[in-house]
Amino acid sequence: MAALLVVCASAVLEDGGRGRRFVLKSGDEAFVVRHGGVVRAYHNRCPHRGLELDWQEGRFFDAKGEVLVCSVHGARYDPAHGGCVGGPCRDRGLTGLACREQEGLVVVEEEPRL
Ligand code: FES
Repeated sequence: MAALLVVCASAVLEDGGRGRRFVLKSGDEAFVVRHGGVVRAYHNRCPHRGLELDWQEGRFFDAKGEVLVCSVHGARYDPAHGGCVGGPCRDRGLTGLACREQEGLVVVEEEPRL
């Protein structure tokens, strides 16, 4: 059964704006953002070279707030599903995490390590 992790208050995530980083119980870095009114969660690991995406803490979107961009070599990801839409990611996408909003909080489901 998945454990629930409370990341932040829903209100702090603006659409296409700054995201929130957090650490999974496994020690992996992850983040949440809001896009199209929906909260999304991904591991903070670019599949190009395995580096963190944000150039400043929580800065994951491009200037228009439309796509997620890796600050290192510019790989671009669709925030709706994490798929590569340009740059050196070459069809490799971000690893998503199940998440939802619940009673004003952003909650991520974390699968237990076996
Ligand atoms: S590590 Fe992200 S584009 Fe290279």
